[in-house]
Amino acid sequence: MKLLFIGDIVGQPGRNAVKTLLPKLREQHALDFVIANGENSAGGSGITPKIAGEIFSAGVDVITSGDHLWDQKEVMELLANEKRFLRPLNYPAGTPGQGSGVFEIKRWGETPGEPNIKDGGRAQAPARGDARPTGLSIAVLNAQGRTFMQPPLENPFTLALEEVKRLRERTKIIFVDFHAEATSEKIAFGRFLDGQVSAVVGTHTHVQTADEQIFLGGTAYLTDAGFTGPHESVLGREIEPVIKRFLTGMPQRFEVAKNRVQLHGAVIEIDDASGKAIKIQRVAEALM
Ligand SMILES: [Fe+2]
Ligand SMILES: [Fe+2]
Repeated sequence: MKLLFIGDIVGQPGRNAVKTLLPKLREQHALDFVIANGENSAGGSGITPKIAGEIFSAGVDVITSGDHLWDQKEVMELLANEKRFLRPLNYPAGTPGQGSGVFEIKRWGETPGEPNIKDGGRAQAPARGDARPTGLSIAVLNAQGRTFMQPPLENPFTLALEEVKRLRERTKIIFVDFHAEATSEKIAFGRFLDGQVSAVVGTHTHVQTADEQIFLGGTAYLTDAGFTGPHESVLGREIEPVIKRFLTGMPQRFEVAKNRVQLHGAVIEIDDASGKAIKIQRVAEALM
């Protein structure tokens, strides 16, 4: 199977990029499943049920989050009712929502790239309308780092390993979004889970790293997927207020920037039977 992971969607420009570019990427890569980090999707801070609905309608199957989880109070409704929305696993026991989920993989329409007789033999993107079950499931897990991160959560290493053991009883195809700041913590976390999960991709720094690789145990790894939104910016926000904040130390309003919108992430191909990664490829697609 092939999945696309989309790095932190920032505000309306980020959502537009997903809506516009996802159908093309789905066709180009013959994607079976799409996961996106949505922690900055509402005006750059947090997420609401309405915005999650918009992202799901654009073709995303599961939304992960991170330290901006609580920025919009409406998130409580998502945590209570939406199984396709994940929060970091390593919040204390009793926190609403879930840190992982197992989801059915469907294939959409005709096999992508296959000539479609009705369309005069032209290869056609699969329509979202006609889903075929594959009999395969994918587990998605979201965890948050503790180095240079707030709030201090439980140990993501021990909790993720326990959770992965449970998930592996249901499927070997397991994707992990590790939302963390320190490259050392992220790489160590990926190495720790090598051979236990299909992929570990980092989020939170909004800067795509160039270290995509498959570890010896078969786990695909990328320290950070980058962010989906305006790149003529500082991490998605207007440049001037951020510089002013660094110059003066005074609080500023950080509006979401507008220009040079890109979708960042990674396409990962996974062996259905073993759950091991076959290929990982970074994505940085410009919205024209
Ligand atoms: Fe973010
Ligand atoms: Fe974050």
